[in-house]
This record gives sequence, C-alpha cells and structure tokens, in this order.
Amino acid sequence: MVKQSISPVVSKTPPGPRGLPIVGCFPQMARNPLQFLIEVTRQYGDVVHLGAIGSQQLYLLTNPDDLKYIFVDNNKNYTKGTNFKGQEVAITFGNGLVHSEGELARRQRRLMQPAFHRERIGLLITDMTKIIAQMLERWRGIEENTPLDIPEQMLDLTQKIVIKALLGVEGSRETTEIIQAWNTVFVYNSERTWALIKMPVNLPTPKNLRFKQAIRTVETNIYRIIRERKQSGSDVDDMLAMMLNARDELGETMSEQQLRDEMVTMFAAGFETSGTSLSWIWYLLSQHPKVEQKLHEELDTVLGGRTPTFEDLPNLKYTKMIVEEGMRVYPVAWLNSRSNIDDDEIAGYHIPSRSLLMLCPYITHRHPSFWENPEEFEPEHFSPERSANRPRYAYFPFGGGRRQCLGDIFALTEIQLVVAMVAQHFRLKLVPGHPVELKPLLTLQARYGLSMTLERRSSFAPASRRDHASTV
Ligand code: HEM
Repeated sequence: MVKQSISPVVSKTPPGPRGLPIVGCFPQMARNPLQFLIEVTRQYGDVVHLGAIGSQQLYLLTNPDDLKYIFVDNNKNYTKGTNFKGQEVAITFGNGLVHSEGELARRQRRLMQPAFHRERIGLLITDMTKIIAQMLERWRGIEENTPLDIPEQMLDLTQKIVIKALLGVEGSRETTEIIQAWNTVFVYNSERTWALIKMPVNLPTPKNLRFKQAIRTVETNIYRIIRERKQSGSDVDDMLAMMLNARDELGETMSEQQLRDEMVTMFAAGFETSGTSLSWIWYLLSQHPKVEQKLHEELDTVLGGRTPTFEDLPNLKYTKMIVEEGMRVYPVAWLNSRSNIDDDEIAGYHIPSRSLLMLCPYITHRHPSFWENPEEFEPEHFSPERSANRPRYAYFPFGGGRRQCLGDIFALTEIQLVVAMVAQHFRLKLVPGHPVELKPLLTLQARYGLSMTLERRSSFAPASRRDHASTV
C-alpha cells in the first residue's frame, strides 16, 4: 500500500516491431517463423511485443525467469494458448490431452499419468530393444554406400515403438494402415500450421477429402484394436489395458471417443518428436567425430557389445548428455505457447488478458547469459558441474509446469536406447554436399531430409581389452 502511494507502478508495453493492422507480424513470421523470432529477440531482447492478430496481442518471451513465472509461479493464470490451431487440429486430435484445457485436461492427465511412470516405462524396454534390433538387422543387409533418408528411417522406427507401446500391436495390418494414413494427416496439418488463410476443411477439395479419408482410416483401426481388446477380455498388463481400466474419482472410465482422441494424440506426440530428435542427433554426431569417439568408448566399456537393459541406462552417462545436448541444439518442439486468463505483469511489462505468449526453446537454449558457446554442440553443457547453477527453464525441450510433456521419460529412454544400440554397430555419415537447413513447421525438421550412409563399426571390444591389444 505504502509503496503504491509513493511510487505507482506504471507498467510499459514491451518493445517490438509494429506489424500491420489486424494481422500484426504474422505475414513476416509465416515466411520463416524461426528466423523472424531469432531476429526480433536479437533486436529487442527477452520480452518482445509482436503486435496483435485481430484483438489478440502477441508476445515472445525467452528469459528462463519469465518462463518459470508462466509455467510454475503464476501457472493458474495460464492456459495452453492456441498456437494458431485450425479446424484440422480439432478433427485430428479431438479432446486429446495435448489440446484440451481445464477440468477435462486435469482428469485425463490423472488417468493417463500412471502409464508413464518410470517403472512402467522400464517394462517397455524389451519391446523397444526388439524393434530397434529388427531395424539394425535390416540395415545389415544394406550396402555401405547406399544413402538412406535418416528422418524416414527414424520415424518408421519410433512409429513402430509407440504403436507397440500404446496399442500392444506390432507388424499387424492395423499398424501398416495407421502408419500409411498418418503420413497424409501429418503433411496436411503441417502445411496448414503457418497458413494465414485456411480453406475450410469441409470444402470438398481433393486435399480435404484425402485428409478426411486418412483420419477415418487411422481411427477405424484404433477403434478396431480397442474393441478387439475389450472383447478378448485378455489380462495383458500394458498401456492400453491401463487406459481401458483407468477410473476417475466417480469411478468412470474413458469413453471410446476419448480413448481414440488420446491414442491419436499420443501416437502423434510420441513418434514425430522422438524420430526427429534422433535424426538431428545422428546429424550432429556425424559432424563431431570426437564426440562420436567418446560415445563409442562409453558404449564399449559399459555394454561390451551387449544389448542395453533398463539398468544400464544410468551408466550410459555420456550417451544421455549427447541426447540432452542434441535436444538443446535442435529442440524439435521448437515453439510452445500459453495464454493468460487475467491481465498480468511480466518483467515489468503489462500483458493484457487473453494474449498469446510464444515461448521458443530454440532461442532460450541459446541464451548467451545461460549457455557458454551456445551455438556449439558440446555434450559437456550437461555435465553436473556446468548444469549446477543453470536456471531450470534455460532448458525446456519438453515444455514445463503442470502441462509438461507426459511422455518425457518414455522419449528419453527410447532415444538413449536407439543411440546406444545403433552406435554400437554403425557410424552414420552425412552424404557429402547434402544441404542441411531447418524447416520449422509443427516440429523442427530438416528441409531436405538428412541423407546419410551407414558404416559398420568393426569392433566393440571393451576399452580395457582394446587398450591391452594396442600394447602387444
Ligand atoms: C523427443 C520427444 C518429445 C518431445 C520433444 C516432446 C515435447 C512435448 C512438449 C513441448 C509438450 C507440450 C508441453 C507444454 O505445453 O508445456 C508435450 C506434451 C505432451 N507430450 Fe510430448 N514430447 C516428446 C515425446 C512424447 C512421447 C513419446 C509421448 C507419449 C508417448 C508424448 C506425449 C505427450 C502428451 C500426452 C503431452 C500433453 C501433456 C499435457 O498437455 O498435459 N510426448 N510434449
């Protein structure tokens, strides 16, 4: 009270480009959204006002303290934000957790969370390693100089892993149909992410019709799997069983429609992100032979050629640092958002209610106040000493607060296993001259894919044996 009467706080509007009436900075942003956000941060700092789209004010926030305020300290004032979501998102994901809010989101998170606990993920390791081993077996049949599209390979792998984990099926007709149809759904959704004007999905254009047919194929297969499981009455103890049996406080289970929405949501959230992160990690390793060498030494020492188990993962410390650093340099979920219910004040700036706050891990992960050599791929960024004093939200590839990614342990476990198992047997080399450029759509992709060749590793003898061999 006293403070107010002496010096009333006049909170300001953050600096930023003016933008146009009605569309704000959207047209500039849509051309190359990531580059645009990088440039405005450089020019205006940690809090940038990006004008308004219609009546909604837009801001970009990149300082970890402000992110903590939004994700944690004042999270009651924040919903997930719309991120320019269109009709196609509602048709694809329905009320699935990623896009739902309020009481429904709280209920669904409570129902689904137990399936994602660390010990439950531990039970999925055998299936994960089996599916990775099948890919390696296929790769052994490929000539060394044959270029492979690594994102395609990784997405195929992570799709199979997540379908097996979620729905309990593998190599079935349903799996093939879901994977094929999803491609159409994904391309359609991606193309519309940054479109300023979106044609109504219900217009009977060939593209719209293809999209709707594809989403019907995905859901028909998911419904079929769910119904077969219900009818079989089998007592399998997997994720699908957990979801089918989960009950809320009133003893209610999820409706079939809700289960369909959650399965589509987790399938989409769970394979694109992990597969794309893995692709970037292979690219980064191919450009940093010393890091790759150190990785091989750790794998040879800890595993000595064995397939990794859940218990091995904590001992593969450098492998984990590579995974974390890969997701720092290329956070595939590169843009997150929140919307404030009531007026707020952040870093001394006034943020009117119902604004859209864009949070960009790609930029925060390079914030020079919190990262030394931010542009360099250095797994040591994640050594205990260097991580010790870093603010929690200087790094947020999985978002944060009460809506943080539900599948983070699943993803980290899966990615660490894939890196370990592939690098035990192969080196991946970028095809000379292959252009590498970012393509920030829903996820941060490589514009021209990543064309790489496989080189077999000749030995994975434990370091001690190799050292001995070199002295004789
Ligand atoms: C590298 C892999 C992954 C990345 C980078 C990632 C990233 C994210 C991000 C940024 C969010 C939004 C968090 C927020 O708004 O604060 C999210 C939400 C979510 N993710 Fe992931 N994710 C990954 C893998 C997975 C996997 C494997 C699954 C499940 C199998 C999954 C399921 C979910 C779900 C259900 C949500 C919604 C949580 C909620 O809104 O309460 N994700 N993820």
